[in-house]
Amino acid sequence: MQPDSKLQALIARAPRWPVLPAPLPREQMPRHVAIIMDGNGRWATQRGLIRINGHRAGVDSVRSVTRYCGQVHIQALTLYAFSTENWKRPKAEIRLLFRLLKKYLVEERPELMANGVRLTSIGDTGALPEDVQAELKLTQELTAQNKGLNLCLALNYGAQGEILNAAQALARRVTRGELKADDITEDVLKNTLYTAGMPPLDLLIRTAGERRLSNFLLWQACDAEFYVTPVCWPEFEQRDLEAAVLEFARRRSAVMSLES
Ligand code: FPP
Repeated sequence: MQPDSKLQALIARAPRWPVLPAPLPREQMPRHVAIIMDGNGRWATQRGLIRINGHRAGVDSVRSVTRYCGQVHIQALTLYAFSTENWKRPKAEIRLLFRLLKKYLVEERPELMANGVRLTSIGDTGALPEDVQAELKLTQELTAQNKGLNLCLALNYGAQGEILNAAQALARRVTRGELKADDITEDVLKNTLYTAGMPPLDLLIRTAGERRLSNFLLWQACDAEFYVTPVCWPEFEQRDLEAAVLEFARRRSAVMSLES
């Protein structure tokens, strides 16, 4: 899909990201980074603010982390923006989270386009409010041919549900006679998950100190380095991501020297 003339004008005015020197040689950089963006509420409460201000500040971190990943040529960044468990939150908070997401999708579109970012999503997005679905679809279609960073938003995502869906899809193919049960290999299952075609997950980051996977990328995290930082998401900056990348490379080279 081609941008209309209004969007083309906005793209022309959007900032172009300068190429940053990567902190590591390209072959040592993580290909795919995923982040459990936690601590928005705590960050706000510690400052005497209401929780939603934490989510608002969290959008700024989304922007700066996306820029950094694009600048140092990380191939994919997956952000846990709304989990299937998040529906248990107060209705007003859910409404505001979706309002922020919609605003982000509209306002960020020119900058994503100007910098070659391809926006995708994982999760059951059919359950999101229709106006959010429409902006998501439009952003996905407009950025589909971009060749830079793949920014993947996990929306109404839960890893157990993802694996269950894949198992059901494969079972249906077996019932239709398209596939034999014994032909279901790890690769076949992997390619039936939402993340089919994405690079392997190398680095999984969780902010705000908790050490739980919270139903995020359970299959994909099999070989990933898990990095937990006490920093709450609204305070997470490029230098925190760089620290995580350097720690990832340190651990990977330690593992490789043990294996050789
Ligand atoms: C966890 O903080 C964060 C979330 C549930 C949502 C993350 C959403 C955003 C950063 C904003 C919108 C997203 C995009 C991609 C534009 P928490 O509320 O659980 O924090 P707490 O554990 O301190 O209460």
